[in-house]
Amino acid sequence: MMSCENRSHFSVSCSSVSEEARAKINLALHVTGQRPDGYHLLDMLVTFADHGDRLDFMRSPADAFTLSGRFGEVLAGDGGTNLVLKARDLLREAIGPLAFPVRIHLEKNLPIASGIGGGSADAAATLRGLMRLWGTTLSAETLATLALKLGADVPMCLESRPLIARGIGEKIEPVPELPAFAMVLANPLKGVSTPEVFRRLATKNNPVLSLAPSQTADWLAAIAAARNDLEPPARELVPEISEISAMLQAHGALLTRMSGSGATCFGIFESMTAAEHAAAALHDERPGWYFQAAKTVSGGA
Ligand code: C5P
Repeated sequence: MMSCENRSHFSVSCSSVSEEARAKINLALHVTGQRPDGYHLLDMLVTFADHGDRLDFMRSPADAFTLSGRFGEVLAGDGGTNLVLKARDLLREAIGPLAFPVRIHLEKNLPIASGIGGGSADAAATLRGLMRLWGTTLSAETLATLALKLGADVPMCLESRPLIARGIGEKIEPVPELPAFAMVLANPLKGVSTPEVFRRLATKNNPVLSLAPSQTADWLAAIAAARNDLEPPARELVPEISEISAMLQAHGALLTRMSGSGATCFGIFESMTAAEHAAAALHDERPGWYFQAAKTVSGGA
């Protein structure tokens, strides 16, 4: 039995593998309608940060799940409802007897219920990691169906590269032209209920996202001209979102916006040095809040 460190997409059994669960960032999110089942139709420009959770998967005599990291304790009491365990169980059901018992360790570095897809990224990383550990692959179609069962953002987190997502998040188109951005992620550590934010939307038929990525020379201007339609209702629930946006601007952000249903906001900075200085200064101002400098992945990487 071999360790599969650094060997993704290997289809032999390994004794241990690791996966990164990168923070998902909605550069834009337009709510364009609602399906009869209540889910909202969205147009999203999405990228991923070089910062996130980390998952380790190990062959084990019995299933086990352990947690560490700044936000690990918050999840410890959720009684097995974690999306990681749901992803494990769903994949095991799909692949059958090959799926031997596993110990999963989650280093939880991303804040919970924060609009940067921590839970979805963990679920996607679990699907990727356990396919490697169990030495199996599923067709892209089966995998996408499993992912969508776990949550609307899980299919895009499986990709973890710049993309446009439509539908409820399942219609995905890569955006290889999107450049990397230097960012600060900022969160007042107030969890936001996604259904509650959607419920408070004043209008659900907003203009679609009209980026023409291949012709977009100035991405910053294109993103600035787009919106996050969930920002106004989220600001009603968590007034600190307005405060945190103003703080990012005061520290030199070229553009600030909320990600997902909040409360995490991001500021785009001129360079990683500028982002790191801003994150350190913001941390000094509000030591209890979450400020993280991060570089996003580029589409061409
Ligand atoms: O799919 P996920 O579990 O991440 O979604 C959480 C909740 O957010 C859903 O139950 C739904 O209320 C809301 N939602 C929505 N439209 C979407 C995605 C999520 O209304 N496209």
